[in-house]
Amino acid sequence: MARIELRGLTKQFGESRVVDEIDLMIDDGEFVVLLGPSGCGKTTTLRMIAGLEPISSGELVFDDKIMNDEPAERRGVGMVFQNYALYPHMTVAANLSFGLASRRGRGSRRVARQKERARVQEIARLLEIEHVLDRRPKELSGGQRQRVALGRALARDPDVFLLDEPLSNLDASLRDKMRMELARLHAELPITTLYVTHDQGEALTLADQLVVMNGGKIAQAGSPREIYARPADSFVAAFLGSPGMNLWPLGAGDNATHQEGLRLPDKIASLSARAGRLGATVGIRPEHLHIAGTRSDLVAHFTCRVQVVENLGSHLLLHGAMIDQARADVVAKLEPQFDVGRGDTISFGARAEHVHVFDAESGARIDDAIHRGGTPLHSHYRRQREAVIG
Ligand SMILES: Nc1ncnc2c1ncn2[C@@H]1O[C@H](COP(=O)(O)OP(=O)(O)OP(=O)(O)O)[C@@H](O)[C@H]1O
Ligand SMILES: [Mg+2]
Repeated sequence: MARIELRGLTKQFGESRVVDEIDLMIDDGEFVVLLGPSGCGKTTTLRMIAGLEPISSGELVFDDKIMNDEPAERRGVGMVFQNYALYPHMTVAANLSFGLASRRGRGSRRVARQKERARVQEIARLLEIEHVLDRRPKELSGGQRQRVALGRALARDPDVFLLDEPLSNLDASLRDKMRMELARLHAELPITTLYVTHDQGEALTLADQLVVMNGGKIAQAGSPREIYARPADSFVAAFLGSPGMNLWPLGAGDNATHQEGLRLPDKIASLSARAGRLGATVGIRPEHLHIAGTRSDLVAHFTCRVQVVENLGSHLLLHGAMIDQARADVVAKLEPQFDVGRGDTISFGARAEHVHVFDAESGARIDDAIHRGGTPLHSHYRRQREAVIG
């Protein structure tokens, strides 16, 4: 078992800094997911931890030991790559035990072989591949092959488990199944795990701690719930969620309360005025848009003309544009029975706590002040509403 700490971890390839002073704490037994767009430095980070890529600067610490110069084979790390390579000419059992004897080979050969066989049995049971131990990789399904790759890393009894998009070449339903298997495996065998993925579903369901990366830096780290509810900047807001958050520009100094497109309460609108030259960006998630008039606690009203409606079974995805603010595209998630079609106009609103405000220039979240200091936004409006109703 190991606690991992990254202190200013940096990787420089020639002129370009592909991992840029990353600080991160990973608790013993924690499942951490690295999520981010292609090229943001996820694999490079993992390879530095595994010892496959020299660290340019900063420190890698396991428990209290600095590991920067520790050779890969002495780090106690098991790694599964996106294109896990199984040995095609060996049986599953041989693939699982490959290299084990050399690592554990103390004492008599016979005892070592017995131990090895017991270990392979144990791993095979855990991963439910006992019945395929005598087959070769080409006689396995994609999911079974995946499990053998995981098993091979597990058989070495790693202190740290590094997984780089291990499910990406499986089809969607198998991926869902393997995702749950991984969650179950981690519950049974809580090895400190760092898991890289593009897939938000995997990230949100598996992570104890979610780390969103962008351009070699950590954009935000925290629990999936926290990051989804309060993205630290407009990049994270747009990146997380499918589809991501609607983001609309507000001009600096606009009295947005009276703006044609989006009618915001003063308290939110005034933030955009304070946000400097470029003003602010207002964000609302598609599932937080409600039809105006269906509930009494909505603010941030606007009208939208529908362009496309996608029926996704469990819900509708409505794509449109704000009326009077033609450049503001709108995506809303609605109940599947809602009757709507192309060309319809619909008025929306959202609850105040679901309205996010970001600095247009830096992208940083700037509405913390209204949630943190003084009256929280939602209770402010609740009181206002009660005053109106009462
Ligand atoms: N050996 C190398 N030499 C030079 N540049 C490299 C090298 N390896 C990676 N890079 C660059 O570093 C950046 C980060 O690469 P990395 O593989 O870590 O990205 P990633 O987040 O894993 O992306 P993906 O999601 O596509 O796998 C990329 O711009 C890549 O081109
Ligand atoms: Mg990668």
